[in-house]
Amino acid sequence: MKTIIEPFRIKVVEPIRMTTREERAHLLEKAGYNVFLLHSDDVLIDLLTDSGTAAMSAAQWGAIMRGDESYAGSPSYYRFRDTVREIFGFKQIIPTHQGRAAERILFSTVCEPGDVVPNNTHFDTTRANIEATGARAVDLPIAEGLIPSHVHPFKGNMDVEALSELIAEVGPERVPLVMITVTNNTGGGQPVSMANIRAVSEVCRTHGIDFYVDACRFAENAYLIKLREHGYADAPLPDIVHEMFGYTDGCTMSAKKDGLANIGGFLATNDEELARDERDLLILTEGFPTYGGLAGRDLEAVAVGLREVLHEDYLEYRLASVRYLGEHISGFGVPIVQPPGGHAIYIDAAAFFPHLDPLELPGQSLVAELYLEGGVRSVEIGTVMFGTHDWETGKETASSMELVRLALPRRVYTQSHVDYLVEVIHEVWDRREAIGGFRFTYQAPTLRHFTARFEPSYRFAARVRGSPPCGELPDRVISTPPTEIIT
Ligand code: F0G
Repeated sequence: MKTIIEPFRIKVVEPIRMTTREERAHLLEKAGYNVFLLHSDDVLIDLLTDSGTAAMSAAQWGAIMRGDESYAGSPSYYRFRDTVREIFGFKQIIPTHQGRAAERILFSTVCEPGDVVPNNTHFDTTRANIEATGARAVDLPIAEGLIPSHVHPFKGNMDVEALSELIAEVGPERVPLVMITVTNNTGGGQPVSMANIRAVSEVCRTHGIDFYVDACRFAENAYLIKLREHGYADAPLPDIVHEMFGYTDGCTMSAKKDGLANIGGFLATNDEELARDERDLLILTEGFPTYGGLAGRDLEAVAVGLREVLHEDYLEYRLASVRYLGEHISGFGVPIVQPPGGHAIYIDAAAFFPHLDPLELPGQSLVAELYLEGGVRSVEIGTVMFGTHDWETGKETASSMELVRLALPRRVYTQSHVDYLVEVIHEVWDRREAIGGFRFTYQAPTLRHFTARFEPSYRFAARVRGSPPCGELPDRVISTPPTEIIT
């Protein structure tokens, strides 16, 4: 078999500003060791997220010029609506500026305090929007999904038995909807099988509960069904997508992922009455129903992107590049969430640094090292993001997993960028035993990962700054906000 090449040529380029290790050590320290606080032109390879970071095609840029900016009834909306209808099969299409706006409108329309919303694993904005209504967000991943090294083709699946038990326990009237996230981002970018979607839909039908999809990475999930699930190898992608969504009652979508756009999203349903209530809310906070917080040109870019993302050459290259990164680094021993999923490689930082306690923030250490070594920006999905701080006792509680996500923006980096990444990770892997942990010096009461500041433990500090060992690591959280870096 020949090399799977990038199925595009490059017409427009953005220069990457090279930095030295010394510069990066200084920039990292200035940012309080929080890579969210770096300026992005100080980053060589930015793997912070695959959201809104795609390179658009010539066809998308062309469509942008056709964008009609009428407040009401824009033809750009109708092109967008018809594309979404055709691909997903829903009738009522409500545009929103991004995924979380669709979530807020959906959940504040259907949830009451005390309700329960199950998901394979809620993304953080989904959880937060459910909890903001007084309802409870419950994660029901299959057991295999929680063991990073365990190989299973559909680790994103929902535990169907646990779903039935939960419905029996709280009563179907307390469950306004069941949601499934494709691919399961928080659970390692892992796909959900068609069989699982079908089984969850049967449980929902039995109890008269609506079934929704968090559809952000629907095309990657559909292609993984084609590659991994019996009976789908020869099925055209649009048919797989139709079948997936045909079992459900609606979806929320962030077009910043598999819409191949820099902004955009939508909420979809077949329920006319529900859609009417949702549109009323849309007008209140997003905009008139034919633009929903987007410019006409954004609607055009999404409409074209949603078709391009289903090209099989594109998806073959997309999944091959994620797999290429995963296989190369696991080849020299780096522990990753197996098997490689759709949009990212997740390194198991707890296994990467077995000498570090979770409260020494091993994921944060790896994130800092990758930046220092090669200017690579990744994101911690572990104790920094999901651990908790008790403000009365000062006690920190760790998260159940310590992952570092390397999310690949769509159509942005080439194979030599990925080869460079592999080299950077190799360097860090080779000296992993000499790498120390971190502690918080500042954290906000909510969503602390975005603005936290850290202090390295002695081993890291010794290498970066030549400072002497400072011994054991007492918890040190200074609660007064430091001077803001983002102004
Ligand atoms: N659902 C999932 C599964 C997501 O991954 C995201 C965003 C959202 C909903 C919210 O969409 O950002 O358009 O409001 N994930 C990004 C990420 C931020 O980096 O994984 P949004």
